[in-house]
Amino acid sequence: MKILTTIAEAQAVCRQLRREGRRLGLVPTMGALHEGHLSLVRAARTQTPVVMASIFVNPLQFGPQEDLRRYPRNLEQDCRLLEAEEVKLVFAPAAEEMYPASPAGLSHPCTFVEVTGLSDKLEGKSRPGHFRGVTTVVNKLFNLIAPDVAFFGQKDAQQAVIIRRMVGDLNMPVQVVVCPTVRESDGLAMSSRNRYLDTLQRQAATVLYRSLQRVRSLFDAGERSAATLAEAGRGVIREEPRARLDYFEIVDPESLAFLDAAPPGALAVTAAYFGETRLIDNLLL
Ligand code: PAJ
Repeated sequence: MKILTTIAEAQAVCRQLRREGRRLGLVPTMGALHEGHLSLVRAARTQTPVVMASIFVNPLQFGPQEDLRRYPRNLEQDCRLLEAEEVKLVFAPAAEEMYPASPAGLSHPCTFVEVTGLSDKLEGKSRPGHFRGVTTVVNKLFNLIAPDVAFFGQKDAQQAVIIRRMVGDLNMPVQVVVCPTVRESDGLAMSSRNRYLDTLQRQAATVLYRSLQRVRSLFDAGERSAATLAEAGRGVIREEPRARLDYFEIVDPESLAFLDAAPPGALAVTAAYFGETRLIDNLLL
């Protein structure tokens, strides 16, 4: 396995692959890899002969009060997991490599990619600037790696919608594939942040999936009022004393607009705090 840490190396390797006409799949991650990430790698392996995973804890997408410093980092173990999946290329740059210091007097960095309209609601409302950081770094990765296909998880539904929109709006020559959410056996969506939870919070965190299941069963029974469905989801989360609800909404899966009536394919999205840890989950109805 090749671990590339500089942009020059990554560009050289990717240029060579293109010369050889080999299609390249990219799985962007922030590391602390789990089965959710590995499911993307496996999907990539079925679709592209060469798979690159990127591991970069992107400072630009963390708010000043967020967990950038304590975000779990374990490059060695991540590389072992990727090696076991037969990934041959890992791009793991340092922060200074991705965001070199700007000349004095200029902000750091000066250029951002922002998907307006979609980035300021739901997650974006609770995490101002988060999606601008995501779309900027994903854009940089796409520019320097130039993958044919890039793989993202439905777990971060809003992120996937925003990246699709960015790729469409800017005519980026990359196909975006979104893979299903991988869950623990009790339904909790896998997340690098789950390791922040203590035992009781970990148990309580299953409420997210239970709230979505509750909404799904109401929907399956014929309920179409988005207000009623969302309120039922909120009710399940409010019953859990260790959860602090941030939002629970039923939205259009493409525009993320709030809906009055929920058609099949509507997206139920939720976020809640367990102690300091903020978790998200979603379900397509
Ligand atoms: P990260 O949280 O490490 O997630 C990397 C990719 O794995 C994302 O596409 C995410 O949706 C997917 N993923 C995470 N948990 C999953 C699960 N349980 N099931 C399926 N897929 C899952 O998302 C990011 O990093 C960053 O924002 C990034 C896109 C890398 C830009 O910095």
